[in-house]
Amino acid sequence: MNIKRRVLTININNQTRCINSNQYTLENILNLCNTTNKIKSIASTSDGLKYLKTILSDKRAMLYFKQPSTRTFLSFQNACHILGISTSEIRDTSTSSETKGESELDAIKTFSQYSDLIIMRHPSNDFIYEISNNLSDKTRIINAGSGSDQHPTQALLDFYTIYKYGLENKKIAFVGDLLRGRTVRSLSLLLNKVSDTKLYFVSPKQFQIKSDILEQLNIDYDITDDFDKILPDMDVVYMVRLQDEYKHEGINDNEIIDTSKYSINSGNINKMKDDAIILHPLPRRNEISVEIDGDKRAKYWEQCENGMWVRVALIMSMFGASKL
Ligand code: CP
Repeated sequence: MNIKRRVLTININNQTRCINSNQYTLENILNLCNTTNKIKSIASTSDGLKYLKTILSDKRAMLYFKQPSTRTFLSFQNACHILGISTSEIRDTSTSSETKGESELDAIKTFSQYSDLIIMRHPSNDFIYEISNNLSDKTRIINAGSGSDQHPTQALLDFYTIYKYGLENKKIAFVGDLLRGRTVRSLSLLLNKVSDTKLYFVSPKQFQIKSDILEQLNIDYDITDDFDKILPDMDVVYMVRLQDEYKHEGINDNEIIDTSKYSINSGNINKMKDDAIILHPLPRRNEISVEIDGDKRAKYWEQCENGMWVRVALIMSMFGASKL
């Protein structure tokens, strides 16, 4: 693991890789937030949209998604199109030569013959490091979700959404399945760069965040299973669903774990601060009631839209094109 991380550090120096949220400095992240603001402003006019379409119109991207996705796939595809990048995709490997026994690495090397950018979602925590280390920096690589470990672009868009509502001195709760929630893992590492933030990890003890993340935190944090108690003090409440696609990871399959009290609904939303915000990477199940969607504190649909614009900014920066 150490070797992978050391090699990753070398590869990301020129920002041709987006692999792990820990690779970014606070300055990098704030620059990305600023660029995102500028892009949104430019995109608000028809001439602006036409201009954006010229910025990377000589580039081609490959979207290789080996796990299901709605938001990440579509927001990346649309982000590419906003910048004039043409896209190809494989989402179902039964249609690719992997069914004839081609290795995943050979498949990726093939994509790099046709594409300047590979955006990959993969069930393995580590394969993203392998491809990053096997391809030259000429091919940009973005991790669109690696197993239960990392989802750095989700963390960047989550951070941007929090930044929009104010970053200073925030108490931020992560609530739900933190054991297997890659978005929480990635966002915790980004928020760790903001010194006056305090994080609260709120879940049944079986779903608590792994120690490898806690060991990296320099900021204050608390671990609790008492959502009701902390809810009134929070500035940001970040809900996640049960990640049961990783059902064998760290959980005893026979154990019934009650997650019903880790939800926001009409019964407890009024305990929240008036200016707090509720985020969720989506998709949701029952951890946020639909009736909450109309509350002014519910920002998860805005967060979802922000994802596309942050990804436009990220792609531009990876091609050295973020001077607007
Ligand atoms: N937030 C997120 O990663 O959503 P999708 O799985 O739909 O891409």
